[in-house]
Amino acid sequence: MTKKTDLLDEAGVDTRLAHLGSDPFAFHGFVNPPIYRGSTVLFPDAEVLESEDQQYTYGTHGTPTTDALCTAINALEGSAGTVLVPSGLAAVTVAFLAYLSAGDHALVVDSVYGPSRRFCNRTLKRFGIEVDYYDPQIGAGIEALFKPNTKLVHLESPGSNTFEIQDVPAISEVAHRHGAVVTMDNTWATPLYFRPLDHGVDVSIHAVTKYPAGHSDILMGAISANEANWKALERINLYLGLSASPEDSYLVLRGLRTMGIRLEHHRKSALTLAEWLEGHEQVARVLHPALPSFPGHDLWKRDFKGSSGIFSFVLKANGKDRFLATASAFLDALRIFGLGYSWGGYESLALRVNLTDRTITKVPEEGPVIRLQVGLENVEDLQADIERGFAAAKAV
Ligand SMILES: Cc1ncc(COP(=O)(O)O)c(C=O)c1O
Repeated sequence: MTKKTDLLDEAGVDTRLAHLGSDPFAFHGFVNPPIYRGSTVLFPDAEVLESEDQQYTYGTHGTPTTDALCTAINALEGSAGTVLVPSGLAAVTVAFLAYLSAGDHALVVDSVYGPSRRFCNRTLKRFGIEVDYYDPQIGAGIEALFKPNTKLVHLESPGSNTFEIQDVPAISEVAHRHGAVVTMDNTWATPLYFRPLDHGVDVSIHAVTKYPAGHSDILMGAISANEANWKALERINLYLGLSASPEDSYLVLRGLRTMGIRLEHHRKSALTLAEWLEGHEQVARVLHPALPSFPGHDLWKRDFKGSSGIFSFVLKANGKDRFLATASAFLDALRIFGLGYSWGGYESLALRVNLTDRTITKVPEEGPVIRLQVGLENVEDLQADIERGFAAAKAV
């Protein structure tokens, strides 16, 4: 008889999300894995203690709960192995530490998540690792930036806050020819809408804080590597002593079960709002890769299966000196959108984006950039809320 795990390889995405990482009969038939708390794991005798030849050996090396989540993520990513770390930012920094050493050079996309850039500029630099930033739209032209010591290329597509789309296969091909590892922050798309390893990336990075957790109550990162790069990743995680809590791992696994239907709702509502905003008289530009007007839309269409719930727009303002006041008036008038960082949760959020750290990309100059995280509320209510913001912004 065909095994369930084999069927799941071919099944639809929601079927996979409902069953991946699940092994009820290993746990007396209970549908969900138990939460294994623990540092110490006992060995049955001195011989096994010496050899450590058993599946679990110590809390930081994994538990059945964290393994259930890693199994599900590996199946979604197509990866050889996954490590869980305490935040999405840690997922980026641990990946860099896995593949970079003193004297190396790394190429990092200019539209990278701000704190990832801070780690490069402050910490990697201190360790004697040189980082150059590149234009997200550079494509195969990245070849000109390679040095003999370039060991890692980091992508984030779409980019943080401005959502530029990268030519992932073209950049990966060049990087591999130069012997560099390709890492990618894939948090925006999740493996449902983009599978980095299928497009040439070696290591896929996620803030599972966002859509997998889905409820704004967990911080966690996941790093998933292909066969060639898995051992180095597993090793650095062990050496750094990082692990994810069993409660949080349980809750992320629970979040994964509904991620497909949540994402579909986020996708639809965000696109509805983006299309409406594009025609709004107080909007200069909408930065959403699924809009045909967006530069990079063709690449998005070629590579991605969907778009998620976070995008930005450029709010018109009367003169540069009123950018901040106009943005603040807009934000302060919102009642359903909360003002806050993060995204991927069930509730909508808005903020003004600060792009002052960019060194290569040309950022929008027509007005302040407002980022919207579109949650699971009814889209008409969100639209009415945004109208409140526009009315207040008009008065500035
Ligand atoms: C693209 C991206 N990567 C990584 C992170 C970091 O995730 P965490 O908040 O779990 O550290 C974020 C957080 O906003 C993000 O937007």
